[in-house]
Amino acid sequence: MLRVGVAQADFKLADCQANLNTVADLLDQAYQAKVDILVLPELANSGYNFETIEQAMSASEAADNGPYCTLLRDWSLAGRLVAGGLCEKSGDTLFNSAVVYADGRLTGLYRKAHLFANEITFFVPGSEKPPVMDYHGHHLGIMICFDWFFPEMARSLALRGAQIILHPANLVLPWCQKAMLTRSIENRIFTATANRTGTDRDLTFSGLSQITSPTGDILTQMDDTAAGIAVVDIDLSLADNKHVTRQNDLFICRRPDLYDD
Ligand code: ACM
Repeated sequence: MLRVGVAQADFKLADCQANLNTVADLLDQAYQAKVDILVLPELANSGYNFETIEQAMSASEAADNGPYCTLLRDWSLAGRLVAGGLCEKSGDTLFNSAVVYADGRLTGLYRKAHLFANEITFFVPGSEKPPVMDYHGHHLGIMICFDWFFPEMARSLALRGAQIILHPANLVLPWCQKAMLTRSIENRIFTATANRTGTDRDLTFSGLSQITSPTGDILTQMDDTAAGIAVVDIDLSLADNKHVTRQNDLFICRRPDLYDD
């Protein structure tokens, strides 16, 4: 059994120190609750709805090399794993990324492939597949927020062995929580969506961070304004059973010969 947590809070646009304090508080709550795997929201170091490139740049840090990443790395030292959204600077380029730290080292970096609305003004879309990471013999996939709208992302992670999808998010559309339950059922995997609350300028975020199961249960869901964490004890190996009925193994029954790209 692993204790999986999703963390939810309001973040302040381009106020990195305030966001660091919020993340430190969430990490402390997760430590007290003995969480093994924690998911933080998208862009948790920076806030979301930037006005200018300069503002986005000022709120960014290089992966594995700044105060936010250091906080996550240190928290992971004692055998834990944390995934969190990062406004990532790489040279002159910004990516909407997620970093994953386990056992005190960076085990995953994913740059969001499907940028939502205005994000394209600030970020370059990632060009690498989201990774499936090994954590103490378990297999964890990751995607970021609007990637949910493209079921191929979750399917591809599941086909590569992901037992759970860690899903940092800043959701503004009303459908994702329901869609992630479907992603769980159609891939027979767990999902853990960590969403934020509050308002950045004209955008309001929907909270309702949740963890879903391969058999279609919402194992926990926060409300739309709460700050804190929600945790569930999970046997990730349940996601290895792809049998929907005795005769129907979900992956063996696929008919890629009939599907378009
Ligand atoms: C989103 O992708 N943050 C909506």
